[in-house]
Amino acid sequence: MRIRGMALQFTVTGVLLAGLTAATELPIAKPGCQDRCGNVSIPYPFGTEKDCYYGPEFLITCNHTFNPPKAFLGKGNLSVAEITLDGKLRLMQYIAKDCYDRAGARKTRNRPWINLPVQGPYVFSDTDNMLVAIGCDTFAEMRGIREDKNDTYMVGCVSKCSDKKYVPNTCSGIGCCHTSIAKGIKYFDVSLSSYNNHMGIWEFNPCSFAFIIEEKQFSFSPSNLSDLVKVSLLPIIVDWSIGRNNCETLEKNKTSNACQGQSKCHDPENGSGYICKCLDGYQGNPYLPNGCRNINECSDPKVAHNCSHKCIDTEGNYTCSCPKGYHGDGRIDGERCIRNRSSVLQVAVGSGAGLTSLLMGITWLYWGYNKWKLMKLKEKFFRQNGGLMLEQKLSRREGPVTETAKIFSAAELEKATDKYHESRILGRGGFGTVYKGTLTDGRTVAIKKSKTIDQSQIEQFINEVVVLYQINHRNVVKLLGCCLETEVPLLVYEYVANGTLYDHIHDKSKVSALTWEIRLKIASETAGVLSYLHSAASVPIIHRDVKSTNILPDNSYTAKVSDFGTSRLIPLDQVELSTMVRGTLGYLDPEYLHTSQLTDKSDVYSFGVVLVELLTGMKAISFHKPEGERNLSSYFLCALKEDRLVLILQDCMVNQDNIWQLKEVANIAKKCLRVKGEERPNMKNVAMELEGLRTSAKHPWTNDKSDVEDTEHLLGESVETVRSEEMAGTSAGYHSLYLMQSQGDGR
Ligand SMILES: *[C@@H]1O[C@H](CO)[C@@H](O)[C@H](O)[C@H]1NC(C)=O
Ligand SMILES: *[C@@H]1O[C@H](CO)[C@@H](O)[C@H](O)[C@H]1NC(C)=O
Ligand SMILES: *[C@@H]1O[C@H](CO)[C@@H](O)[C@H](O)[C@H]1NC(C)=O
Ligand SMILES: *[C@@H]1O[C@H](CO)[C@@H](O)[C@H](O)[C@H]1NC(C)=O
Ligand SMILES: *[C@@H]1O[C@H](CO)[C@@H](O)[C@H](O)[C@H]1NC(C)=O
Ligand SMILES: *[C@@H]1O[C@H](CO)[C@@H](O)[C@H](O)[C@H]1NC(C)=O
Ligand SMILES: *[C@@H]1O[C@H](CO)[C@@H](O)[C@H](O)[C@H]1NC(C)=O
Ligand SMILES: *[C@@H]1O[C@H](CO)[C@@H](O)[C@H](O)[C@H]1NC(C)=O
Ligand SMILES: *[C@@H]1O[C@H](CO)[C@@H](O)[C@H](O)[C@H]1NC(C)=O
Ligand SMILES: *[C@@H]1O[C@H](CO)[C@@H](O)[C@H](O)[C@H]1NC(C)=O
Ligand SMILES: *[C@@H]1O[C@H](CO)[C@@H](O)[C@H](O)[C@H]1NC(C)=O
Ligand SMILES: *[C@@H]1O[C@H](CO)[C@@H](O)[C@H](O)[C@H]1NC(C)=O
Repeated sequence: MRIRGMALQFTVTGVLLAGLTAATELPIAKPGCQDRCGNVSIPYPFGTEKDCYYGPEFLITCNHTFNPPKAFLGKGNLSVAEITLDGKLRLMQYIAKDCYDRAGARKTRNRPWINLPVQGPYVFSDTDNMLVAIGCDTFAEMRGIREDKNDTYMVGCVSKCSDKKYVPNTCSGIGCCHTSIAKGIKYFDVSLSSYNNHMGIWEFNPCSFAFIIEEKQFSFSPSNLSDLVKVSLLPIIVDWSIGRNNCETLEKNKTSNACQGQSKCHDPENGSGYICKCLDGYQGNPYLPNGCRNINECSDPKVAHNCSHKCIDTEGNYTCSCPKGYHGDGRIDGERCIRNRSSVLQVAVGSGAGLTSLLMGITWLYWGYNKWKLMKLKEKFFRQNGGLMLEQKLSRREGPVTETAKIFSAAELEKATDKYHESRILGRGGFGTVYKGTLTDGRTVAIKKSKTIDQSQIEQFINEVVVLYQINHRNVVKLLGCCLETEVPLLVYEYVANGTLYDHIHDKSKVSALTWEIRLKIASETAGVLSYLHSAASVPIIHRDVKSTNILPDNSYTAKVSDFGTSRLIPLDQVELSTMVRGTLGYLDPEYLHTSQLTDKSDVYSFGVVLVELLTGMKAISFHKPEGERNLSSYFLCALKEDRLVLILQDCMVNQDNIWQLKEVANIAKKCLRVKGEERPNMKNVAMELEGLRTSAKHPWTNDKSDVEDTEHLLGESVETVRSEEMAGTSAGYHSLYLMQSQGDGR
């Protein structure tokens, strides 16, 4: 009795175990069919008996007299080493050898061949295999018969060498040669012959060898000249498919389609017949009913990482979800999770209406709980984004406060941007998206929503926001506030309506309005504000991304410099990548590029490029232009050297009266573009020179040569004093790291 009970228990456990393994491992063969022979797995449509294969051409014979058992194709002696569901079989095939003794008499020679089943859907793969011959006195020849033509096909190659020391490690005709084989071959044999019976080279190469081999498995080394004697079998790839029809004809006769469930028909790129493949998002055996199973994408950390909150597996795909009270696509590269404006209220109203007081009570509890949870989440983001730190810093701020720093709520900004509607997008860049928004008080603002924020850089981000609040300069796009309740911080800027300087210069409809006076004004104001940032601001700031797309002229052409300080939002490595791709390369200080040493002179260089843009109307980098004109700064310097400046100035603004000014500005640009940072003037100097030119333009009577020289002399003197101040400033300095930006954002 006891013993029987134990036996029963055993069986039950056994069944359970079998069930478990079946559930975790996808079945590859039909139920009840042998799915492996020795260590070769046999996936359906292949099978070892009737009802287990798709058709008799897919019979695999498992011969158990070998240990481990060996699999053979059909009833023949073609030994199968592997069957894959993407339409490949790996067979093991004999290698041809032709061996001699020292005196030059032939010892052995074989001529192996393979004949694939004529009826079966099999051909030797021409793309995966090649014919290889190895030897130093060797002529190898392959004879093949193609399935579709009743003709014989021959290829061969010759390999000669007189000494092993000349044999390289590659198969290149010395000691080893190879050639490709034709499409559609079903039969081949390989034969070898020799010119000189290996005399004189016998010491290191007594035999010739030849074989068709799977290209991926082949490597040649000079030692093969002798050690291949010991090798007898090598792998070769055979393509298989279902039937002879392609997918198109199959469409017309659906009854005979072998592709089951979540799979689709697939024409092999070369060859006849079709194979089946699981749809994207599925894996398994497409020939079995229900063979393609859904892939749990979320278990792959790479995919799960694409979701900002939670990854949810779906049938054939995955989606991202947001926490309760949030909506959005939840994707890290999408809109992520956005807090619901009045979800709490909706729930309360929706479930509260018309219910008994008891239910009301429950709803109230639920409401309270939900609100508490929401608050917690809001608080979490706020804390995570450094909100507390910011509040503290702002409250401790000293000095005159002209405008109160504002921390916006997420709801306020969502309303302002119409829930971040597509139509509100002003620009997109490597860092995220800029939206146009209208605040409840009617002000139009630009709202920058970053893609991601690195926790380790939060403190710096806060610092920068604080610094930016302190900058109160009419030529800087003002930061009005920020929002920390969302997962990533949002920044709110003053909105500047009229596009970037880049648009004004390169847009044909706008450029005519951009007279020289206006250009000089923009240049001078930009230089002024950079000089202020470098030396006058309470903490020196290096902008690091001076370029025409970051200068925004407003209605009256007052220049507004945008986009700095927020740069810590993205890690530096990404920044550099974006820079390359986006082509701000044209503005990049070459010295900084080489040494990675950031100084205020990098801004001077970039500003020099902007000056040249203003003078010539050309783009900083134009990839479609001939080699010598691609890089504006080198093109400009070259023209200046060859005294061709006048030829490259933008015609529409040049006249007799201002040509001297243009030349002066070109000269300033030249100084800014010097390769060595220390030889460039500092921004203060540049600003003063430009301002000087502007005032003299307003009073043309001061425009004579001695006066200009005088100015230069004065400026020259001031250089020293300014520089020493500047150095002190920079060493304690505050560096505004570079932020990649697409054209048109920050507005
Ligand atoms: C099967 O076993 C043989 C010898 O043990 C080995 O060479 C071969 O690579 C194995 N094949 C597969 C598909 O694992
Ligand atoms: C198995 O292989 C042995 C040795 O090659 C052969 O004699 C025998 O006929 C084979 N058995 C089957 C069932 O093919
Ligand atoms: C198959 O058998 C034939 C003779 O029966 C033989 O010549 C050939 O080499 C064998 N092929 C393989 C791959 O075993
Ligand atoms: C192929 O050619 C051989 C001789 O050249 C001939 O005997 C045979 O009938 C031909 N077969 C076909 C299918 O044309
Ligand atoms: C040639 O020799 C190298 C190194 O011994 C070996 O890895 C390689 O498999 C050999 N090639 C063939 C075709 O056996
Ligand atoms: C469809 O395919 C089946 C099986 O291959 C075949 O018997 C039948 O004749 C085909 N029908 C047509 C219309 O081609
Ligand atoms: C198909 O054949 C073409 C030309 O013969 C070849 O370039 C291509 O790589 C082949 N593709 C495959 C998947 O074998
Ligand atoms: C998965 O879903 C995404 C978004 O819904 C879609 O873009 C993608 O094409 C889907 N992928 C597959 C394999 O269906
Ligand atoms: C994850 O997102 C990146 C960026 O959008 C995308 O390129 C990648 O294909 C996504 N990975 C998966 C597995 O969906
Ligand atoms: C949040 O809003 C979205 C649409 O705006 C809605 O589909 C979702 O149900 C809301 N979630 C909650 C928890 O109210
Ligand atoms: C700026 O834009 C406004 C409206 O878009 C337009 O009326 C105005 O003329 C523009 N000003 C300049 C200087 O382009
Ligand atoms: C452009 O030319 C300048 C001056 O010749 C050089 O320093 C700089 O590296 C060049 N930039 C690029 C992107 O080729």
